[in-house]
Amino acid sequence: MTTSDENPDFEALLHYLKQNCGCDLTGNKRDSLMRRFQRRMQQLGIENYISYLQYLKADPQECTPLLNTVLINFSGFFRDRDAWDYLANQIIPQIITTKQPQERIRVWSAGCASGEEVYTLVMLLAEILGIEQYLQRVQMFATDVDKDALKQAWQGSYKNNEVAGIPSQLLSKYFEQTEQGYVFCSQLRRSIIFGRHNLAVDAPMSKIDLLVCRNVLIYFQRETQASIFVRFHFVLTDKGFLFLGNSESLTNQKQIFIPVSLKHRIFTKSKDQKLGLNEHLLLLPQTCDKKAVNPLDNYIHIWQKTFEISPLAQIVVDRSGSLLLVNERAFDLFRLQNNDIGAPVRDLEIGQVVNPLTLLRQLNHDRRPFSLKNIKWVTDNGTTYLDIHITPISYSSGKLLGTNLTFIDATQYMYLKGEVERLNSTLARVTQELQLTREMLHSKL
Ligand SMILES: C[S@@+](CC[C@H](N)C(=O)[O-])C[C@H]1O[C@@H](n2cnc3c(N)ncnc32)[C@H](O)[C@@H]1O
Repeated sequence: MTTSDENPDFEALLHYLKQNCGCDLTGNKRDSLMRRFQRRMQQLGIENYISYLQYLKADPQECTPLLNTVLINFSGFFRDRDAWDYLANQIIPQIITTKQPQERIRVWSAGCASGEEVYTLVMLLAEILGIEQYLQRVQMFATDVDKDALKQAWQGSYKNNEVAGIPSQLLSKYFEQTEQGYVFCSQLRRSIIFGRHNLAVDAPMSKIDLLVCRNVLIYFQRETQASIFVRFHFVLTDKGFLFLGNSESLTNQKQIFIPVSLKHRIFTKSKDQKLGLNEHLLLLPQTCDKKAVNPLDNYIHIWQKTFEISPLAQIVVDRSGSLLLVNERAFDLFRLQNNDIGAPVRDLEIGQVVNPLTLLRQLNHDRRPFSLKNIKWVTDNGTTYLDIHITPISYSSGKLLGTNLTFIDATQYMYLKGEVERLNSTLARVTQELQLTREMLHSKL
């Protein structure tokens, strides 16, 4: 089987779907994707991807049966029963105890297919909280990229054989029997927020306490999986849980998740690993429009500008004590030139204010930010007092890269402090004189 990058005809087909059918499958694994496209092509008697692209262009309705074949929607109630039992007995009670009674519990079934997974979640939570409390406290989201599957999920109606996995007392409590089979309790069903969402492309949600994404990631390529895990890390609260499918594993190089139960594929966020800039860039929604400004460029531009235009003077010094970055306010304050970048700070005017090598020695020692207060700086223009905040900049390994120095002009404060001290001593003198005068008057009477 040929792989993605070797088959431009197949890539052209994916590109067409992305631009014209609103379905971006470019992050999906190619071999299984190709097999499923071929299944649909066989049904139509079409032999190659070029002819199939022409067929799609001639008949835009073809998107629907194609996507139904490609996006496998297989699901089931209480699929992998052991894992759901573990969730109900060990995880959900933990989530509930970390919440205040008035706080919402936010749960997301991502890749919910025809709804069996989200209704399983609703039943478990409603059993633990009681239906009334469930309705007051739980916000349930259910999303999928496949419109038809979502419609089925929203209807919540299942044939007799499809509800076989539901314990009988739950079936009678949460479902109504119909001529065709069973339909999920409408009051609880209406409380679920259903929506179309592509995990590889769309902006992630936030503050989720329990994210259930089972048997979805297996369809994605490794890089796409890695970026989805970064999104999941962002999505979850610090004490939130991620519940994956039985055959899924975490492929992140950085341990941003740690297992709570490896057997049941339940994870929580690692306390030691925070998302860095590279990971934050992966959180941005990926645009479909090639002509649009690259959102990553935009994001980096905003980071740079935020530093440059800050009203506080800031510089960055590297580990050898040389000037690395200067913002606009610092250029003005320390009368710096572009060609000062790279020079040792001690050779510049700013070297009269700070000795970066001493600061770096201190940072190397305890790696914590610290401040210097009211540093006096005398120039032709007069005397300035500066508060200096020194913040280490480190690699994720902890090794020191350099330091950021932020300067706050404390001259006005020092002037006012001097004024207050002068007024206080005048007040003390006048009070003393008044006291003396009073005593003299007293002795004359
Ligand atoms: C095998 S079903 C899993 C259903 C359910 N989570 C379960 O485990 O029973 C996979 C689902 O993932 C959805 N899916 C595939 N690619 C997706 C994407 N990029 N974003 C969101 N959902 C996606 C498919 O439409 C399908 O409904």
